[in-house]
Order: sequence, then structure tokens, then C-alpha cells
Amino acid sequence: MYAADILFILSPFIFIDASADNLLQPNIVLIIADDLGWDDVSFHGSDQILTPNIDLLAYSGVALGRYYSHCICTPSRSALMTGKYAHILGMQGYPLTNTEDRGLPTSEKILPQYLKELGYATHLIGKWHIGQSRTEYLPTSRGFDSHFGHRGGYVDYYEYTLEERLENADVSGFGLFRNETAAWDVEGYLTDVYSREAISIITQHNISSPLFLMLAHNAPHSSNAGAMLQAPPEEVRKMRHIESGGRRIYAAMVKKLDDSVGYITQALFDKGILDNTVIVFIADNGGMTSGDSMNYASNWPLRGLKMSPFEGGTRVVGLVWSASFNNSNHLWNGYMHVTDWLPTILSMAKGNSPKNINGIDQWHNIQFNEDSKREEMFEIDDYTGYASITSGDFKLVTGNVIVAYSDYQGDDLRRISGDRPSYMDAIVNSKLYNILHKINRRLKFEDINLRNEMCINCDSDRITTCYPQNGTMCLFNIKDDPCEAKDLSASRPDVVKTMTARLNIEKSKTKARKVPLFRDPRSSPRFLNYTWDVWADNIKEISA
Ligand SMILES: *[C@@H]1O[C@H](CO)[C@@H](O)[C@H](O)[C@H]1NC(C)=O
Ligand SMILES: *[C@@H]1O[C@H](CO)[C@@H](O)[C@H](O)[C@H]1NC(C)=O
Ligand SMILES: *[C@@H]1O[C@H](CO)[C@@H](O)[C@H](O)[C@H]1NC(C)=O
Ligand SMILES: *[C@@H]1O[C@H](CO)[C@@H](O)[C@H](O)[C@H]1NC(C)=O
Repeated sequence: MYAADILFILSPFIFIDASADNLLQPNIVLIIADDLGWDDVSFHGSDQILTPNIDLLAYSGVALGRYYSHCICTPSRSALMTGKYAHILGMQGYPLTNTEDRGLPTSEKILPQYLKELGYATHLIGKWHIGQSRTEYLPTSRGFDSHFGHRGGYVDYYEYTLEERLENADVSGFGLFRNETAAWDVEGYLTDVYSREAISIITQHNISSPLFLMLAHNAPHSSNAGAMLQAPPEEVRKMRHIESGGRRIYAAMVKKLDDSVGYITQALFDKGILDNTVIVFIADNGGMTSGDSMNYASNWPLRGLKMSPFEGGTRVVGLVWSASFNNSNHLWNGYMHVTDWLPTILSMAKGNSPKNINGIDQWHNIQFNEDSKREEMFEIDDYTGYASITSGDFKLVTGNVIVAYSDYQGDDLRRISGDRPSYMDAIVNSKLYNILHKINRRLKFEDINLRNEMCINCDSDRITTCYPQNGTMCLFNIKDDPCEAKDLSASRPDVVKTMTARLNIEKSKTKARKVPLFRDPRSSPRFLNYTWDVWADNIKEISA
């Protein structure tokens, strides 16, 4: 259905393979989107929200068709940094609040620490969200040479404040920091601010060492109540083809995120280091179509949202790009889990992986289009009370899920009024299109046709939905039924038995997290010049 659009853009590309340089450690740029839905990028088929820069990275790199993350920010970022499941770390469940004295245990060695040992310069721009109450939890105490960004769940896109409930009132604090100091001088739309900082890191980078740049955008996470969705008005105006008013703003937020990917790639090209850079683009978890921190994202046709173990919460956008890729396959459909990035990135960096982790090095298999080394994955949250296992074609969901976040949502948000925008125009006018042309990257019709291949089709009527509760469980064949509509637990007791046994072994490894969530009044911004700064350095830790 997109054929006419696509053929048009083929001719400018010259068919020459970029040659791999396997001797150098590559620069690694890891870009993370916050609460981006499965259906919110055009390389997954969306006609509504066009993301040409992200798409072209996929078409000329490798789209990860079965990339899974944890379904909540703090757990997925903990797993990303350590290569371990969140439940192993005690970081599972409801995300960290700014008023909690909690963080990723400092006994864990994390990704930038490994990369520093391998000679990398390490920089974080944007979100952290795995500990901020103590100096020892901060990125600059844990292997990052610098951090510019927000430490908690999100900030306002213009004021950089975050509002939280504390002692029966909503309190507000400034949440943007440059290393360990509040960044009061900053102005502008946050996605642009982060892009500028990233460009400046790239421009000033001394190429005598390889660069690790992690750019963890605030976008497209929602903001404070009262101004949940924010984008520059001129960008929102461009989204008039979208019927839902809320989703128009959301689409503009995603567009700015896509622009950022273009700017970053351009900066790498201008610096002359793009040919030795690996770019990874991932979402931290599924979109939040409704409920707390809703952002009008859509995971359609997948079932469930962020904070749910169903596919909409866990099967998310992912891709990896390198100028040295020269295979013709641009879609890798093997299982890849967020914990796999630590060993995979260390493998790119020509380092060794630690032994006691859950992540698997997939670098060779992705590069050479071989089968995934991963066969199973877990989503265990003793705080909310659910646990799921994916093994081979099957997925078993047990415990209690939040029902409101576990159904089918987002279809109604996809409506278009009037003409849909031209995908071809978006592609040819993008920064990436221009850059790929300059570096003679080979692009073929089939590569862009990946857009059709990435569309998930569900034949099932999506009526018979199983919700695990009070001892009942749901079993799905997620290869045949990616939308988790048909419960097989009654017809396949053999599979239920085997998978339950395996799940129970994994559950027994769970490290309890601090329950209940304790909002400590000493964290209040009014004690800290109205910022969400470190507050617990001299306070004895309250045990669970
Ligand atoms: C953060 O600290 C590092 C190390 O002291 C310094 O090189 C860097 O310039 C600082 N970054 C910012 C954004 O201030
Ligand atoms: C880059 O780093 C090398 C090695 O530390 C140093 O000799 C060189 O002066 C640096 N270059 C710049 C432009 O700072
Ligand atoms: C599950 O058990 C709880 C507590 O006994 C009860 O309130 C709830 O209604 C039950 N849910 C279902 C779906 O049976
Ligand atoms: C306190 O906050 C104000 C902005 O409200 C800022 O201008 C000032 O520099 C801050 N003071 C300190 C000591 O950080």
C-alpha cells in the first residue's frame, strides 16, 4: 500500500556497501524514548505520526521486531544499566518517586562503569530515574563523566518542574541538573534542549577515545497535571490531520523526538565519526494510553499499556544501526530483552561481559542475522502482584494485573481527519535521508517495505480476554496470537505446568523491594531551594 511512495525515493542512493572496520571500538549512542507506544512510529505502520528519521535508521539498520522491555520506567532502566531483571535487583514494580529514599543498589556495577574501563568517555543526557535521594545514586557517582538532565520520572517540558504528592499536598520542585547543580539558566523546549546538549557533547568530543552517549529523552512522557501534554504550537498545528486533540499534541512531541534523532545523526556525521558509530533507539516501556500519566500513546493492536505485563506494556520499539552493517536483512525477529543491552553493548565495545547477569550478548546474531540466543523472558512484579514468563511461542501470565491497563486501547486515537500526510515527503525531507545519501548507504525497495512487515495483524476478535486473578492464569501463543486474545490454559495444561514450574523458580530469586512506598517529608523541595535535589546523604537509611 506504500509502494508508490517508496519507489520514488530509491534512485538517489548509490549501491555501495560501507566497509566494516572491526578493529576500532565504535562510538555508541543509545537513545531512549519515554512511554512511546508500539503504534507511534511510522516504521511500525502508523500513517498518522510520521517518524522518518527513526524509520530510516531502521530501514538502513536492523529493526528489532520482538524487542521486550520491562513495563515500567524504573525497572526497565535498572535492567538496562545492569543486565539483570528488575526483580533480581529489588527494583521491580511502581516507579521511583522523588520523595523516596531508594535507588539501584550501589553494589551493582553498571554499564558506564564497564565502558569507562574499556576507555570510553561516558555521558548521560536526560532521564535517570534509578535513584536520586543520595549523591551515591547519581549518574556522576556511577560511571558517567557528566550528566545533564532530570533525575526523576519526568519534568515539565518548559519549566523543568515535577509535581508530587507529599503530606496531603501537591508540591513542586525544579528538576533539571547539570552534574550535581540545578540548571537554572536553561531555556527552551526540553526535547530541543537535550538535543543541543547532545550535539555539544558530540562536537566537543576528543576522538582519541571512543564515545558512549546515552540520550534518555523526557519525550513523549506526560507532564504535570494541568499541562500533561506539551509541544511547540507550530508543531501541533502540523498535526491537524489527527482527529484526537490530545493525540495531536502527543504526535508533535513524537515529531520533536524524531527531529532529535536527525540532529544527533547529523552531528555525528559532521564530526566525521558516523562511520564508526552504533546507534541504538529503544522505548523504555509501552505507551500510556489512559490512566495515571496518560499521554495519548497507542500500542494498538497489542493488548495492555505501560504497567501491565501484556505485550503492549513490554513489546516495544527498538532498532540498532551501524554503518558497518552490510547484511540485506533489516528486520530481526528474534527475542531481545532490555537486559541484553549490557552484554551486547560491551560486545560492540570489544569488552567481556560479567557472568552473573540475565542479559545475553546478541551482537553477533543481530549483525549476521542469526537466530536469537534468547528463549525465555520474565516480567515479575511482587509489588503489583503479577508474574509472567515467555518461553518459545508461549506466554503465561499469573497473579493479579491492573485490569484497567490490560485491555485493548488506542484504536480510537488512530483516526485521521482529511488527508493523511505524505510519507514520501516526510522521508525525502528528513535529515537522515540526506545523510544516508551522503554516505552512500545502500537502500532497497524491500528495506522500506519493512514498514508493512512490522504491522501486526490480529485475526482474533479481541473479545474473549483472559485476566489472571485469584489463582487463575492465562496462556497465550504469542507467535500465532500476538494480541493475547485466546487463552489456551484449559487446552494446554502440559504447557501451563512446565511454565509455572519454571516461573516459580525465577520468582524465588525475587529480591523484595521496599513496601509500602514511603514518601519522606524531608525530601520536600522547600528545604532545597525549591529543587528536587539530593536530600538523604546524612540520613540513616530506613529499612523495609
Ligand atoms: C560535569 O563534570 C565533569 C567532570 O567534572 C566535567 O568535565 C563536565 O564539564 C561537567 N559537565 C557539565 C555539563 O557541567
Ligand atoms: C585529545 O586527547 C589526547 C590524548 O589524551 C591529547 O593528547 C590531545 O591533546 C587531546 N586533543 C584535544 C583537542 O584536546
Ligand atoms: C479476587 O479476590 C478478591 C479478594 O478475595 C476479591 O475482592 C475479588 O473480587 C476477586 N476477583 C475475582 C475476579 O474473582
Ligand atoms: C535558588 O533558586 C534560585 C531560582 O529560584 C536561583 O536563582 C538561585 O541561584 C538558587 N540558589 C542557590 C544557592 O542555588
